[in-house]
Amino acid sequence: MKVGVVGLGTMGAGIAQLGVEAGVETIGREVTADLGERARERIRHFLTRKVEKGQIESFDLALLTTTTELADLADCDVVIEAIVEELGPKRELFAELERTCRPDAVLATNTSALSVTEIAAATRSPERVVGMHFFNPAPLMPLVEVVRAELTSDGAFEQAYRLAETMGKHPIRCHDTPGFVVNRILIPLLNDCVRVLDEARVSVDDLDAGMKHGAGWPMGPCELIDLVGIDVHVHASEALYDKLREPRMAAPPRLVAMANAGLLGRKSGRGFYSY
Ligand code: 3HC
Repeated sequence: MKVGVVGLGTMGAGIAQLGVEAGVETIGREVTADLGERARERIRHFLTRKVEKGQIESFDLALLTTTTELADLADCDVVIEAIVEELGPKRELFAELERTCRPDAVLATNTSALSVTEIAAATRSPERVVGMHFFNPAPLMPLVEVVRAELTSDGAFEQAYRLAETMGKHPIRCHDTPGFVVNRILIPLLNDCVRVLDEARVSVDDLDAGMKHGAGWPMGPCELIDLVGIDVHVHASEALYDKLREPRMAAPPRLVAMANAGLLGRKSGRGFYSY
């Protein structure tokens, strides 16, 4: 089994880490060698910490190679795409993957709010395109939504499901509807939380404490949006609002303003909190 990961940002590096942890030969593609090397170091850091904490005995980073060439993914069994969350670039990439990869390779997208069917439609073999939606942080969150697009074959769907299991995840099966299962619920819920900040004149700390201690959330909504990235959350909200037209899906102006100001959460050092 060989897995390819295209895009080694937060999600892609997390997915590549899961491949290494599962003992699967993994190849990651980034646009520059430097970005590939940075992802490799990030993976080494997290896996070394897991060894130090006694969570795993050892790991073999030689299972991971990085490349800047899509052609190097030609012999992969499954390729998981985790590039920028925009339809145009994803469709272009899938058309290219179809030309580059083995005809029986499964082509998976980690999109969180775009249509898997629209991505698949950029290829002439949409039956091998499937969604594999990991959650942030991918190495820690057990869920993978395995998403069946309109023309996904049973074979491709089950292969993606089995890969998620091999990676130690808890996969669930769902169809290609806006936001799939979790984001359809979580995105409007987080947007409601942000609206409550202004409506109830509650502080960020108190809102987070409220949901942690009153609703059993592992982290508060503001902490969570900071973790996901304000820009990523706004983008996902807009994608869902475009499709469903429900006012709760639309990003609250406060979040749009934060995104425009470059307050993107943990990754930029400042969001609701400073890091
Ligand atoms: N790989 C391995 N370890 C990692 C890691 C990674 N990529 N990222 C962080 N860690 C480490 C941390 O560094 C820490 O290690 P340390 O002991 O060396 O410091 C360790 O994991 C555990 O961190 P915490 O002590 O913070 O662990 P917690 O027990 O607090 O759990 C959590 C952290 C799992 C993130 C938990 O707070 C949680 O479940 N939060 C909710 C997250 C969530 O809801 N995510 C979904 C977001 S929505 C989404 O992704 C959808 C998308 O489409 C928008």
